[in-house]
Amino acid sequence: MTAETKDMVTRSVEAIRRQHVGSFPSTALILGSGLGRFGEHLKIDTIIPYEDVQGFPVSTVVGHHGRLLIGRAGRLPLICMQGRMHLYEGYPAQELAIPIRTLFRLGVDTLIITNAAGGLRKDLLPGTLMVLEDHINMTGQNPLIGPNDEDVGPRFFDMSEAYDPDLRARLTRAAKVAGIDISSGVYLQASGPNFETPAEVRMFARYGADAVGMSTVPECLVARHCGMRVAGVSVITNLAAGLSGHALSHQETIDEAEKAYEKMSALLLGLFDELASKAS
Ligand code: HPA
Repeated sequence: MTAETKDMVTRSVEAIRRQHVGSFPSTALILGSGLGRFGEHLKIDTIIPYEDVQGFPVSTVVGHHGRLLIGRAGRLPLICMQGRMHLYEGYPAQELAIPIRTLFRLGVDTLIITNAAGGLRKDLLPGTLMVLEDHINMTGQNPLIGPNDEDVGPRFFDMSEAYDPDLRARLTRAAKVAGIDISSGVYLQASGPNFETPAEVRMFARYGADAVGMSTVPECLVARHCGMRVAGVSVITNLAAGLSGHALSHQETIDEAEKAYEKMSALLLGLFDELASKAS
């Protein structure tokens, strides 16, 4: 991270601390496309629009809010990013590290990432929730390229358990308790903004991916680098290009993610309940 980016993290931390008095949650949640309404389930103490956090790049995509919610999900203190930045918006990859490093500096040690994705397996139909087992970075970019901050994490770091096994087991348990069917699989991030070609989709499937989307990997990389535990859940909003016989659209992904919203909410609330029980 360059000195300039580090300075933006410091400014973000200061801006957030000015606007939220009291303690900070150690669990953070990033809400993907069509899932922004999860905020309804929180008892919110503080809302901070990204515009008010100097270092936060502001998201430009329809269907994505841009604000931080600080409060509780049931008994669990939670800080929630309602909206995120994407590579395809043109942010340099390094800037995507800012929100995650900011959360780290505020004391977050557990990060739950949600997204919308296209299914590469025929059984991953729209509306399916898929817990991330692992990921493939096909963006050609990495937010950690550049000077390394040794106080935060090592230059070369292990990614063999990118998605925490204990959190994955808890998600499976929470799904069972809530009576929700979930799948698990490997998420592949392409840069976007276009949906993939059918040939790319066939290639990704042969690479071992189960779902494809345009987010999550940079956030996971930054979080793992600084030692956070990470979990990821995709809402499968469509079969990937060439698998369903119809053209894809952003509206379809938002509509399908919104349809799966109740199920995703129940799963996340179940997980947060588990985490709160563990903490108490
Ligand atoms: N490809 C990439 N990103 C996506 C898709 C897809 O098919 N569906 C939702 N986000």
